[in-house]
Amino acid sequence: MTGLLKGRVAFITGGASGIGAATAQIFAREGAKVAVVDMDREGGQEVLSVLRSSGAESIFICADVSLEQDVQMALQQTVNQFGRLDCAINNAGINGQAKPITDYALDEWDRVMSVNLTGVWLCVQEEIRQMLDTGPGSIVNVASGAGLSGHPANAPYSASKHGVIGITKSAAIQYGSSGIRVNAVCPGVIDTPLAARLMGDPELSSRLLTRHVLGRFGEPEEVGETVAWLCSDSASFVTGAAIPVDGGYLS
Ligand code: NAI
Repeated sequence: MTGLLKGRVAFITGGASGIGAATAQIFAREGAKVAVVDMDREGGQEVLSVLRSSGAESIFICADVSLEQDVQMALQQTVNQFGRLDCAINNAGINGQAKPITDYALDEWDRVMSVNLTGVWLCVQEEIRQMLDTGPGSIVNVASGAGLSGHPANAPYSASKHGVIGITKSAAIQYGSSGIRVNAVCPGVIDTPLAARLMGDPELSSRLLTRHVLGRFGEPEEVGETVAWLCSDSASFVTGAAIPVDGGYLS
């Protein structure tokens, strides 16, 4: 542990699995107090026991980020427990189905938007309200390489992630003078349960792999380390950025 985030209070959505779980463990390693927020109660409790066994002060909050009352409750519970909010990582997301635009039903589009875009919107709103109250802070939204370029098989997902970057940049502009930094990370394909569902299609998987110039997909920790850096004082002059963590996918 280098103590990069010593004593900071971190709120991490989608913390029960994949990138969020790895990020929670990195924040704990760096000395942060961590609120793991997820709608998966079982997965969240498992991550919580790992964090606590490493000695980290941490809590799990079961919440659906697409519901305003859940987001408000989760932030309130975090602040009640730890007294403030320093770092917020809006990572919860779903991929929806990979299929042509013409095959998408409206309710499928709505579900992707409600979690990936409305969920980030509700969290950012509430986090900024809190940070304006208790001091400066850093928000990191987990977008995607598909937020900076089109997706070969999943237009709603790509649209939602472009929207996340729009929220990120607008919030950075509006709240920079209040000491709140807001950035996004844009992962390439990362080895998580979400990606495993997508990689069921071998043709799509090999198409995506050839675009990762490092010749492999990424690990969740490789995203988590970038998020931790963005929340640390080492990134004190970084805001409004959408940073690829993608093995060269976008190059
Ligand atoms: P994952 O499926 O392993 O984890 C996502 C977590 O979010 C799960 O624990 C799930 O229960 C939670 N979640 C889903 N909907 C929720 C809701 N409405 N409220 C609260 N929690 C909810 O996925 P992964 O791969 O770790 O993804 C994390 C983020 O990274 C997502 O936003 C995803 O779009 C993004 N991303 C992932 C990539 C990948 O290749 N794995 C690539 C680019 C971006």
